[in-house]
Amino acid sequence: MKKKFFIKTMGCQMNVNDSEKIAGIFLESGYVESDDDRQADVIVFNTCSIRQRAEQKFFSELGRLKDAKKHNAKLRIAVAGCIARQEGEKIIKRFPYVDYVFGPDNIDRLQSWINTGEGRVSVEDNPEYHLKVLPMKREGGVRAWVSIMYGCDNFCAYCVVPYTRGRERSRPAEDIINEIKALSDDGCKEVTLLGQNVNSYGKSLSARSEFPELLENIHLISGIKRIRFVTSHPKDLSDRLINVMRDMPKICEHLHLPLQAGSDNILKLMNRGYTFDNYTQKIESIRSAVPDMAITTDIIAGFPGETDEDFKMTMKALETIGFDGIYAFKYSKRPGTKAVELPSHIDENVKSERLLLIQELQETIISEKNKRFKGETVEILTEGLSKGDADMLTGRTAKNKIVNYCGDKGDIGNLVRIKILEIKQHSLFGDKI
Ligand code: SAH
Ligand code: SF4
Ligand code: F3S
Repeated sequence: MKKKFFIKTMGCQMNVNDSEKIAGIFLESGYVESDDDRQADVIVFNTCSIRQRAEQKFFSELGRLKDAKKHNAKLRIAVAGCIARQEGEKIIKRFPYVDYVFGPDNIDRLQSWINTGEGRVSVEDNPEYHLKVLPMKREGGVRAWVSIMYGCDNFCAYCVVPYTRGRERSRPAEDIINEIKALSDDGCKEVTLLGQNVNSYGKSLSARSEFPELLENIHLISGIKRIRFVTSHPKDLSDRLINVMRDMPKICEHLHLPLQAGSDNILKLMNRGYTFDNYTQKIESIRSAVPDMAITTDIIAGFPGETDEDFKMTMKALETIGFDGIYAFKYSKRPGTKAVELPSHIDENVKSERLLLIQELQETIISEKNKRFKGETVEILTEGLSKGDADMLTGRTAKNKIVNYCGDKGDIGNLVRIKILEIKQHSLFGDKI
């Protein structure tokens, strides 16, 4: 009988994409995937370290596996992802029943561990990793994620990513294009390009290539109907990119542009490289090029030194810009980052209060903004059956709004037009026309 692997993926889309590579390597080694960790011969945790909570969650799950290994001595446990790179050897010291620790840039080492069982920790720098083309197990279906660059050079004061994912490196455009062509041949219609700062794509390549150019080349792949990308850093968002978004119909009218805070003092302490004014100017340029662009953002509540005044500026920013969606987080101390050493860390209760106020304000903004969809006709890419109701189909608009409707499975993979009848807080419902 074939051996089974089970992957538990935590964290961002980049980890989801890395798990596709990890699965691809196991499949090439003759394993089959299991959806039950109790049946597995190998369990892989693909971990996230972005906030303390994510880290604690992983360590408590790992702790619970101690007994599983007592019952099944053949079980092997591997730890991948951002915590693996951050903690390395320490994981083995603390949890001796872990068999293998490998970082996001060391996935190419996995095959040899599977085959030989040799080696316990692979978290070393791997300067050539971005040139590797690894096998991947894709979910199949209409949408796919494609990493175009790895790492980050920005060193925002709160953030662990430059330490866990190393320096910024762009993949060669040719590899990216080939990957997307292959996806398109398999029936994929929508790609989301992934990188911590896609606007600086190409900076590290010897054959200089830029993000707008990459988008133009992807746009030529006829089977691909929609192109998305995350994340854009405000400091590197160029007019050229804005113009490409305006001129290329397949590029979705959605931009995720993390603001983090509305106060210049805090932005400076965060090392974000822009002022609130710079940010709003970018928003104006975007809105004058594509008037109805959906803009979403990330906000951190209670960064060290955030006064009531600073916090009010973030609230004001949310009101004046009117985002189509936000991800808001309480500031969380991360090991090795600059912000840990800043004076005036904010009390946990104050952070929670501020976070709640941010979320409440955003809910009212969204309710107001959603009203404009009532009776409107939108185009969606039908992705599959609705998770909540298998009698319904689900898809997204170019602006990334989820739309559910009653229809025929034959719609999956097609662009269909829907008249919106009902508006819920996080999804829309309508009739196909
Ligand atoms: N590269 C992307 C985002 C990566 S992390 C960018 O620059 O926008 C996703 C989000 O997590 C960040 O935008 C930030 O809002 C949040 N985040 C990162 N580190 C954090 C921390 N220490 N505490 C709270 N939120 C954090
Ligand atoms: Fe983290 Fe900043 Fe890099 Fe984003 S740009 S990954 S927030 S350091
Ligand atoms: Fe992603 Fe978490 Fe790493 S958000 S980059 S998996 S720290």
